[in-house]
Amino acid sequence: MRRKLVLGNWKMHGSKAQVRQLLAGLAARIGEVSSAVDVGVCPTHLHIPLVADLLAGSRIGLGAQDAYADPSGAVTGAVSVSMLVEFGVSWVLVGHSERRQLFGETDQQVATKFAAVLEQGLVPVLCVGETLQQRQEGDTETVVLAQLQAVINKAGIEALGNSVLAYEPVWAIGTGETASPAEAQIVHQALRAHMAAMNAQVAADTRIIYGGSVKGANAQQLFEQADIDGGLIGGASLEAEEFISICKNAD
Ligand code: 13P
Repeated sequence: MRRKLVLGNWKMHGSKAQVRQLLAGLAARIGEVSSAVDVGVCPTHLHIPLVADLLAGSRIGLGAQDAYADPSGAVTGAVSVSMLVEFGVSWVLVGHSERRQLFGETDQQVATKFAAVLEQGLVPVLCVGETLQQRQEGDTETVVLAQLQAVINKAGIEALGNSVLAYEPVWAIGTGETASPAEAQIVHQALRAHMAAMNAQVAADTRIIYGGSVKGANAQQLFEQADIDGGLIGGASLEAEEFISICKNAD
């Protein structure tokens, strides 16, 4: 049985004061969330030390939004996976569509990052998703399966068993538009079937979470779908009450 997982992706948001306030709000209400649900937050790299301190002893885990694959070197502005390990990070998002679109990250680079995260013993959260145009042209499954396959080619299917997949339709991110539960389920099922053709156990064990305008009000219907194992939450994770409401709906 796969445990549900809800991760907040704070993106480029938050002052130190806001981070403190948000975490205090989460700490006050995390007891309302079933212990059957895994919960984590992914602040900016800069806020990771502060968040790590504030989360000490909490059941809320710590994730990072990105990492550079090499352990060290002349890479101005980058943060390596091994640095994240030192700060108690558990999950690392790789291949978020904002990184793919704004920073030009390719499937190959994403696959290299994925492998580096695993090698350091952390859990990569591989994000895949189609643009609106790709969906309208009927290419959704082709696109997301190719993004997944690039990682399988690099890391092997067994590696997926130690990772999390996140289906995030680009057109649903930050737009208030959500894939309907049925639309999302179709893609989640396709991702799982693709893995199952190579390794049934990995496919059965790997969590596939959904992201794209998830709110307290729509979370339950999404999370009820057979192949949706939780959520990757952007805007709604910046509000303690809303995020907790989403987490409660994951049980
Ligand atoms: P929103 O929840 O703001 O649509 O963002 C989703 C997302 O990109 C999470 O990684």
